[in-house]
Amino acid sequence: MRKARIAVLVSGGGTNLQALIDAQKSGIIKSGEISLVVSNNADAYALERAKKADIKSLVISRKEYGDSFEDKITSTLEENEIDFIVLAGFMCILSEKFTSHFRDKIINVHPSLIPSFCGKGFYGLRVHEAALEYGVKVTGATVHFVNEIPDGGKIIMQKAVEILDGDTPEVLQRRVMEEAEWKILPLSVEKVSKEIIEG
Ligand code: GAR
Repeated sequence: MRKARIAVLVSGGGTNLQALIDAQKSGIIKSGEISLVVSNNADAYALERAKKADIKSLVISRKEYGDSFEDKITSTLEENEIDFIVLAGFMCILSEKFTSHFRDKIINVHPSLIPSFCGKGFYGLRVHEAALEYGVKVTGATVHFVNEIPDGGKIIMQKAVEILDGDTPEVLQRRVMEEAEWKILPLSVEKVSKEIIEG
C-alpha cells in the first residue's frame, strides 16, 4: 500500500517531530512516511533529530528568501512530491496563497484548547503564560487543519491537561507536551495520512 509522503515544518527543539519519528518506528503511523523536514531556522535542534533518523532535511529562511520564502517552500514540497504537511512548532504564519494551495493538506499542533489562547501572538511558551495568567484550571492541546486564519481551521483532535498549583509556564508546557501533544499529533498524522491515501 502506498504511503502518504509527509513533510514536517519546524523552527525549534523538535520534540513533536521526535514524537512523529518514534510513532513511525513503533507503527502508530503506518499510512504515511516522514519524507522531508524543513526548518526556517538553521540552528533548530529539530534538524539534528531529522539527521539522526536519516530523514532528508533542509533550511529555508525568511532572511535568505525574503518575499519568495513561501514560494521556495512550495516548490521544495512539490519537488519532493509531498502529499501532506505537518507544522510541528513552525513559528511562521502562512499566507492565504500558501494555505489555499495546500487546502486540507496542512495540519498544525497548538498547545491550548482552541478557541482559548490561540491566534496571532500565541505561540510556544506565551500560550502557557497566558493560560496561567488567566487562571484557567484546564488547558491542553489541539491538532487542526491550517487555513488562512491563524489557528482557525477545522479541529482534528484535542486533549485536555490539568493545571496544578505552582505551575510555571515551563512546567506546564512540558506537561501539555507529554500528556497531549506527543499523543494527539501522531494519532492525527495517521488519521489524515490514511484519509489521503484512501482518497
Ligand atoms: C510546541 O508546544 C507546539 O505546540 C508549539 O510550539 C512548541 C514547539 O515545540 N507551537 C505553537 O505554539 C504554534 N502556534 P517542539 O519544537 O519541541 O515541537
